[in-house]
Amino acid sequence: ERVSLWGGRFAAGPADALAQLSKSTDFDWRLARYDIAGSRAHARVLSRAGLLSDEDLRGMLEALDTLEARVVDGTFTAADSDEDVHSALERGLMEIAGPELGGRLRAGRSRNDQIATMGRMYLRDHARVIAGLVLDVVEALVEQAAAHPEAPMPGRTHLQHAQPVLLAHHLLAHAWPLMRDVERLRDLDARLAVSPYGSGALAGSSLGLDPQAVAAELGFADSVENSIDGTASRDVFAEYAFVTAMIGVDLSRLSEEIIAWATKEFSFITLDDAFSTGSSIMPQKKNPDVAELTRGKAGRLIGDLTGLLSTLKALPLAYNRDLQEDKEPVFDATDTLELLLPAFTGMVATLVFHTDRMEHLAPRGFALATDIAEWLVRQGVPFRVAHELSGEAVALAESRGVELWDLTGADYAGISAHLTPEVREVLTTHGSIDSRSAKGGTARAAVAAQLENARAQLSAL
Ligand code: ARG
Repeated sequence: ERVSLWGGRFAAGPADALAQLSKSTDFDWRLARYDIAGSRAHARVLSRAGLLSDEDLRGMLEALDTLEARVVDGTFTAADSDEDVHSALERGLMEIAGPELGGRLRAGRSRNDQIATMGRMYLRDHARVIAGLVLDVVEALVEQAAAHPEAPMPGRTHLQHAQPVLLAHHLLAHAWPLMRDVERLRDLDARLAVSPYGSGALAGSSLGLDPQAVAAELGFADSVENSIDGTASRDVFAEYAFVTAMIGVDLSRLSEEIIAWATKEFSFITLDDAFSTGSSIMPQKKNPDVAELTRGKAGRLIGDLTGLLSTLKALPLAYNRDLQEDKEPVFDATDTLELLLPAFTGMVATLVFHTDRMEHLAPRGFALATDIAEWLVRQGVPFRVAHELSGEAVALAESRGVELWDLTGADYAGISAHLTPEVREVLTTHGSIDSRSAKGGTARAAVAAQLENARAQLSAL
């Protein structure tokens, strides 16, 4: 016989098929300790409102301690007949404290305000864990940048050679978005730090309970202004899912590059043995599985976000059972990142860069053509003309199958009188790189300053 929380008006228990459908203990059990913390706080406000004697409060808190110990050591688990973590724990409490005392705790609260609160507590804790793990990735990127302060590489737009840049500049370009993701996780905490406990089913409690006292005991900054909002809204869950999806997408963009860089054609990097895999049939293979799984899991994280948003769309106020579907997306996003991030950090930290090859390719594909145009501008030539003349030099070099620096002073003079032999002096990779010396540019000095700022920001986060 199923034990349900709503016996009174029902003549019969739920059909087995409904009970199976209803059950959420497979995924909400991870909230058990938050639920017990909520019960402790709730017992205290009940007692302060005169609804639990001092003795009952003591007995209740002892029973909750015993229950928590049994949850932690695994001797108390959800039974097949339990619908959710809340009903399972209420059963556990009654077993320990007896039905008379155990049955008093439910006054003035509802699973609707409980679950909304437990979810926020979980997200606050895991936002911190994930932020720490993302910062490990950032640190690995910053250390790789610091280890290669002068190495050039081909900078690309449209995946085509565009202008030479420093490898450190490129690596830091992946670090900044991840630091913004960490800021997003921190910002989000201000909105997660508001407790719905005390909202009851939707309308608040009539029993003189103090929601702010519960909030404070559970580490929240405040309790909600509106009990309907408290029980019905999940925008903060969606925001968490967005930030986790954004982290996945940011990691996926670097993954895509790592996968390309590890190919024979690029040969920019070698992956450490510990962070690559082999093939069961092709003995020579060394595969970038960490990067590929990251790219794949980014899709899954986007799915978690869109699934959750789809659940919320058009839900009328206040609580609807649809909201039970809020948990698996954010739990999956959490598990996914907590599994992925340490492997990703290891992969980045152990990457070996083939800087000679990267430097060799950096200026190729006419990547210094912009330097010719900008040299002409410094000689007083309008950029429109300068662009044209540099383009003619590219066309000439391309027709001969040579690079821009292979053209002679006479070749340049033949294109335009503006192109004196001195133009050939800007046709070096490091000259090009160091000329972009304003804040945010790829010059060595600018990147050194950027690296320092990245380190400062990293230690402040
Ligand atoms: N397990 C539910 C959830 O996760 C909370 C219980 C609310 N159920 C209800 N019938 N009001 O959303």
